[in-house]
Amino acid sequence: MRPENIRNFSIVAHIDHGKSTLADRILLQTGAISEREFRDQVLDDMDLERERGITIKARAVAIRYQRDNEEYELNLIDTPGHVDFHYEVSRSLAACEGALLLVDATQGVQAQTVANAYLALDGDLAIIPVVNKIDMAAARPEEVAEEMDSTFGFTPEECLPCSAKTGMGVDRIIDAIIEQVPPPPGNPDDKLRALIFDSHFDEFRGVIIYVRLIDGELRKGQRVKMLSTNATYDVTELGQFRPQRRAVDSLSAGQVGYVIASIKDLRDIHIGDTVTDAANPSADRLPGYEEPKPMVYCGIFPTDNDDYDDLRQALLKLSLNDSSFSFEPESNEGLGFGFRCGFLGMLHMEIIAQRLEREEDIDLVQTAPSVTYELGLRDETTISINSPDKVPDPSTIESWSEPIAKVSFITPSDSIGPIMQLCQDRRGKYLRTEYLSQSRTILVYELPLAELIVDVYDRLKSITRGYGTLDYEIIGFQKADLVKMDVMVASEKVDALSTIVHREFAMKRGRRLVQKLKQEIERHMFPIAVQAAIGGKIIARETISALRKNVTAKCYGGDISRKRKLLEKQKEGKKRMKQFGRVEIPQKAFLAVLQME
Ligand code: GTP
Repeated sequence: MRPENIRNFSIVAHIDHGKSTLADRILLQTGAISEREFRDQVLDDMDLERERGITIKARAVAIRYQRDNEEYELNLIDTPGHVDFHYEVSRSLAACEGALLLVDATQGVQAQTVANAYLALDGDLAIIPVVNKIDMAAARPEEVAEEMDSTFGFTPEECLPCSAKTGMGVDRIIDAIIEQVPPPPGNPDDKLRALIFDSHFDEFRGVIIYVRLIDGELRKGQRVKMLSTNATYDVTELGQFRPQRRAVDSLSAGQVGYVIASIKDLRDIHIGDTVTDAANPSADRLPGYEEPKPMVYCGIFPTDNDDYDDLRQALLKLSLNDSSFSFEPESNEGLGFGFRCGFLGMLHMEIIAQRLEREEDIDLVQTAPSVTYELGLRDETTISINSPDKVPDPSTIESWSEPIAKVSFITPSDSIGPIMQLCQDRRGKYLRTEYLSQSRTILVYELPLAELIVDVYDRLKSITRGYGTLDYEIIGFQKADLVKMDVMVASEKVDALSTIVHREFAMKRGRRLVQKLKQEIERHMFPIAVQAAIGGKIIARETISALRKNVTAKCYGGDISRKRKLLEKQKEGKKRMKQFGRVEIPQKAFLAVLQME
């Protein structure tokens, strides 16, 4: 295919604004899929591709489309859905020349609409604004087009109205892609340079990489080299998703496709790396992506120590698919052997933990998240720590610095007051207010990331009854007066419950935490003291009273089925308990620090 007839584009949107539906609709309208397949939601189905034992996510679909006797190849590159991963979105955008910026006509511009639009603008992409869901009774396309104007400067005439659901307006979008997205630059006759923008591990075929060819040609049987790791491989299969996997003999500059090369070592592949010809390599690495830096850390431990190796294997697999996720071994008295894992944010952490439990079937105990702190020590060195257990002796610490996030809230104007209050309670610094329309406002604050990850997102959702959205970026580190707060359960210090707090908030947080722990830890046969302490000084205390003997006696005297139920329930509960000294602490207790209200 000649580069002039290729268009590489992506769809970016706030969650639920209809990205997948529009993608499917474009496939339907261009004849790539049938009406029945459209109804089955093609692109959204992770387990769709099951040919010869291969399961692949269709992350880039090549569409052949005929217009005015010209054949075009439209490559629709999917950006991962999750919202706070700027990095993931930007790596997919780096493979495109254009983006459809989709906004829901009933919801208007939202936090991730703004964040994604800026990523596309940063990448110099041609942006086609689209107002979706105009079939809905609650649609207010004119008002939303005005928001697109006041936020990004797109005139109302530039915004294409459509309904991904009914297909209305979709033909015009396809025309706009051909007319407004520039064809890929790059030279098919130059040395091979292809960008790895995604990868996936398949049990049978090894690592499958997704590439966008920038220059040159890629052929079946060719020996290729990864520029950053110098690993070389023979290409055993390459092809495109149309949307079914279709092998081809070669791909050339501008095209997008997948490569299979019996890659077994996950560490050889880096998202953002350049693939070149091993015999005739290009020396120029493509501008890779910025290495994403994990910002939020937590401990992940198998409930059953025998699962340790399985957990390690699972984490390795996940880190291949998601290079922004990192992990290293960690051991902890009480929790045993596990891993300290790094994530981009809270949502990322939740998704990974869920995938581990669902896809890998490993029961986990997860500790409360912590951010990275920079500590200036008295001997004039600086250390970075990502876990409260690693805080050195307080007498050696000169200063603490913590990561600061710039947070943009998009909210109904009547919720501004409570959101400002929330930010103040979380050590926020007010930056500015912008008006999106009469009823909606952008509020910008600086907040310590450690405060943001506690519960700000959940609180925003409840304050705005679900209508508020937020987006954030880390803008740097700032000094703060922080201290480590320890927790003792039945006089034993439990490292996994330590947290780092601002000195001013320590009392309040300590009290809250021990109250929460009292609720989460079940009663035992003896009273249990739960204490919070700073530098050896107790600042808060609660006692979990002992279980009265006759309570258990009653259970054991009960009928068989009730007894069995009780035992089963206990077994269920056991799975997520860890023994600390004489006390069993359930998984939920480790996250108690996140429940501040
Ligand atoms: P994520 O993948 O979760 O980010 O969502 P998405 O942006 O891909 O949204 P998706 O396509 O899953 O659509 C979200 C919901 O909106 C679904 O219930 C769709 O059926 C619905 N939807 C999408 N487009 C339209 C439309 O044009 N009209 C109407 N009425 N509903 C739509």
